[in-house]
Amino acid sequence: MSNYDMKKYWNNLYKQRGQLNELLDNEGLLTVCHPDKPLYYNKLFDFFEKKAFSETIQKCGLLLNKVVLDIGSGTGRWVKKFVALGATVHGIDIVEEAISKLKRKNLPGTSFQVMSADKLKFPDNYFDVVNSIVVLLHLPYEKQEKAIAEICRVTKNGGKILLIESTFMKNYPEHVFPNTPQRWISLFQKHGCKLIIYKGQEYFPLLRLFDCLYKTIKKITEKDAKDRSTIDLSYNTQKKAGIVKTLLKKVFSLSERITVYLSYPIEYVCPYIFPSSFSRHGIFLFEVIK
Ligand SMILES: C[S@@+](CC[C@H](N)C(=O)[O-])C[C@H]1O[C@@H](n2cnc3c(N)ncnc32)[C@H](O)[C@@H]1O
Repeated sequence: MSNYDMKKYWNNLYKQRGQLNELLDNEGLLTVCHPDKPLYYNKLFDFFEKKAFSETIQKCGLLLNKVVLDIGSGTGRWVKKFVALGATVHGIDIVEEAISKLKRKNLPGTSFQVMSADKLKFPDNYFDVVNSIVVLLHLPYEKQEKAIAEICRVTKNGGKILLIESTFMKNYPEHVFPNTPQRWISLFQKHGCKLIIYKGQEYFPLLRLFDCLYKTIKKITEKDAKDRSTIDLSYNTQKKAGIVKTLLKKVFSLSERITVYLSYPIEYVCPYIFPSSFSRHGIFLFEVIK
């Protein structure tokens, strides 16, 4: 049984991250992507999410004056995109702080409300497009199903639903509830949606290899440190161990940076080499048929 409390988890994260310098991280990636990783790492994920979004949104036709719902708006990465396309955007999030910040931006044609994806306070058949990027995967399974029913209810006949969600079923933390691509698809098909696009997202083989190596090395060094702590070591030996640890940290940080930069060109060819089931996320576009 998971101890994840949706509201508490996200409120805490925004509280911790809200202090960050917005000049350095103006899109708030360190809140909405990988809070435990450096900004350059987050920019890689942001770059490929934006690429997938731009390619997929083209299939929704002209968005001028169309009504869009952005679920889990966060720091407004996708709201800005829809505003630029001329749409009217309603953004919701469960975090009050995120919603107040978005309201203060005074973006034209936008309105924001604190609301949970599984309890949408909008009439039936209201939206032309519903966008939800890396949000449903953070809802426990029961709430996820309710949210999907709600999304389909508020979308017009012929309207579109765009999602990027987690499809990798291994090693996920407590606040992630992934589904296989087939399960995401069938959850939407249950409400009459027709799949238009499904593509793998986030292959990043080099980064995954790097993470594996890092975890193995960490395990070995931690075991070594534990063994050493049981022996009474001289001051000089302890000092040497400290220097080695600092050096290892620097080597790790440099290698991670190199791995991230190499991942840009590699990611372009991954969809041609690996099956989409190898990717950790998927981008989905559905059409609602009522
Ligand atoms: C990983 S962030 C993604 C934010 C944004 N969609 C993006 O891609 O930049 C997930 C967001 O969903 C929000 N969220 C989590 N559970 C939610 C729920 N049940 N209803 C609405 N928003 C939720 C969080 O507060 C957070 O802002």
